[in-house]
Amino acid sequence: MMSLRRLLRVPALRVSAAFAAAGVSMGLLASPALAQTEVKIAYALPVASHYGAAANAWGAAVEKGTGGRYVFKHFPASALGGERETIEGLQLGTVDMMIASTGTLSNFVPDVGVVDIPFLFRDLAHARKTLDGPVGQELLAKFKGRGLVALAWGEQGFRQMTNNKHAVNAPDDMKGLKIRTMENPVHITAFKTLGAAPTPMSWPEVTGALQQGTIDGQENPMSVIVSAKLNQVQKYLTLSDHVYSPMVLLVSPKLWAKLSDADKAVFTAGAKDGAQASRAFVDENEAKGIEAMKAAGMQVNRIADKAPFQAALAPAFQQYQTKFGKALLDRIAAVQ
Ligand code: PAF
Repeated sequence: MMSLRRLLRVPALRVSAAFAAAGVSMGLLASPALAQTEVKIAYALPVASHYGAAANAWGAAVEKGTGGRYVFKHFPASALGGERETIEGLQLGTVDMMIASTGTLSNFVPDVGVVDIPFLFRDLAHARKTLDGPVGQELLAKFKGRGLVALAWGEQGFRQMTNNKHAVNAPDDMKGLKIRTMENPVHITAFKTLGAAPTPMSWPEVTGALQQGTIDGQENPMSVIVSAKLNQVQKYLTLSDHVYSPMVLLVSPKLWAKLSDADKAVFTAGAKDGAQASRAFVDENEAKGIEAMKAAGMQVNRIADKAPFQAALAPAFQQYQTKFGKALLDRIAAVQ
């Protein structure tokens, strides 16, 4: 093959000098810039939320750990669609990374639905210990078989109810309430059992449906209620703590396959930093969020005694036990 020097008909020295000059002027000699890869991370809420806190901490850890070879490009506030479509994008590799709720993920990895059972976790500490321990790690491992790579459990907090009809104090107050739920069979069973009219709907449609009155209410953790400004479209906030809501930090198998083992370790450690950041956000904003919603005019009540709700849910608990197995539920209850 003819050399470049002969093709250009110039002496060797001038060719290499010309290439060096071009390389310097185009920044080509600064090889790290050449090797920088932008990875797309998507999530349902604004950057100023527990999702954004997790994505920022994860991105900072990856950028530092890879010497800037990987940088995160954020697609917050459902910019790439609802959680279901975005998870499908992750499976296909059109989205590189995502943070998603188990509410949606359990449609892809049905075993994960166990964490969506109402009143399963006693408190945040119980949930965190369970998810960081063997049960949580076994559940994360199940994502691989469904075309997803799950690296860590983040947190949204306990879910609370909001609506425009009345305060909810007892199970009877749920009767006939048109409550938007996630597209999640475990949640839908619970709300049906309580006598409500659960209306499963993708998150990006919720604010509009509340505004138009096609639904009376919805349920989400304080972190979501505050960051999505639901006080603008909802009057009553009932602190029911009816179900814990985790989220999962995920990578597409396509991106994962391209990473070296060392980079995989950096992404995994970074996801754990992201998970911690979401928990810190929840810790810091839970009480503040309630005060902010009161100040914004919401009527807030707390259900101190959960026993009547737990009793009303007895038929649903039977179904969950059949679905997920008594042994697993006992293992979770035994985590101290
Ligand atoms: O209610 C939901 O759909 C979820 O909790 C949300 C807001 C998308 C966060 O994952």
